[in-house]
Amino acid sequence: MSSSNHALPLSIRGLRKAYGDVVAVDGLDLEAYPGECFGLLGPNGAGKTTSIEICEGLTQPDSGTVELLGLTWKKSSAELRERIGIQLQETQFPEKLTVEEIVQLFRSFYRRGLSVGKIIETVQLTEKKSSRAGGLSGGQKQRLAMACALVGDPELLFLDEPTTGLDPQARRHLWDLVEDLKKAGRTIILTTHYMDEAERLCDRVAVMDHGRIIALGTPRELIATIGAEQIVEFAVDGVGADLEPEALQNLEGVRHSRLDDGRYQLSVAELHRSVPELFDELARRRIKLTELRTHSATLEDVFVSLTGRNLRDE
Ligand SMILES: Nc1ncnc2c1ncn2[C@@H]1O[C@H](COP(=O)(O)OP(=O)(O)OP(=O)(O)O)[C@@H](O)[C@H]1O
Ligand SMILES: [Mg+2]
Repeated sequence: MSSSNHALPLSIRGLRKAYGDVVAVDGLDLEAYPGECFGLLGPNGAGKTTSIEICEGLTQPDSGTVELLGLTWKKSSAELRERIGIQLQETQFPEKLTVEEIVQLFRSFYRRGLSVGKIIETVQLTEKKSSRAGGLSGGQKQRLAMACALVGDPELLFLDEPTTGLDPQARRHLWDLVEDLKKAGRTIILTTHYMDEAERLCDRVAVMDHGRIIALGTPRELIATIGAEQIVEFAVDGVGADLEPEALQNLEGVRHSRLDDGRYQLSVAELHRSVPELFDELARRRIKLTELRTHSATLEDVFVSLTGRNLRDE
């Protein structure tokens, strides 16, 4: 047994990668612990795929180091290939091959691993095992990609946006699969730009923006950092003609206020104190409320409070 058995699944130091003037990864330091699902969360272009592809040995960094299971790509690429599983953001399969043939092909690249039947069953494609890849739905293709990542029974699994483009049912199905893999003790590194996905699946999350980590912790810790339990969103008649968001900052219990695209957003400690005050303030100013919504603070709100942008803003 090598000493790498006690090593961290993933350890990244000072990683940097630029494409011309675009700095895709700008000094990344990260560690993943055994058995955790670690999430890299960030908007389009944040540098998630670049970071994960460097970890997977598919992209060369400009500088910095990556160790997986205590090993480096330079010294131990053959062993690493046997011990990790990779699902790329997009996978192209030969259209004419069947599900079973594709899994068989990927299985043949590994000395040890799971049986083809078992893998197909794990990703719930048994009914489709004789179907050609060209005829699979988006969700089924994602599950086939997951199957190909699992063939070598990996200790460490990389999933790049595993649920993007899937319908809600297919997403939940993939979540269940990830949870089963976690229960089986695998370490999972996952990228996503879905906050609910990160909250649901990830033990710890690194929020990435412009190639840097801007927050790191458990979803609960990150949400606690904005110092507000609840978010109040509202719109008014006349698109806030006389209502500066700063004016709302003085209402009781309001921590932050902002106006974005005609919608106001307040982060508040307690709804029952701040909402009546908001109503009074609007009435005093004779402003008509056209919409009001509240929700418990989420990772999305963490991103907004750190960057002033929504995750989906380009
Ligand atoms: N091969 C490449 N050549 C040039 N620029 C690239 C290349 N790959 C990535 N980039 C740029 O690097 C930045 C980070 O891209 P990356 O794909 O890592 O982001 P991402 O966080 O995975 O985004 P998404 O959520 O859209 O998948 C982007 O500005 C992108 O345009
Ligand atoms: Mg990506």
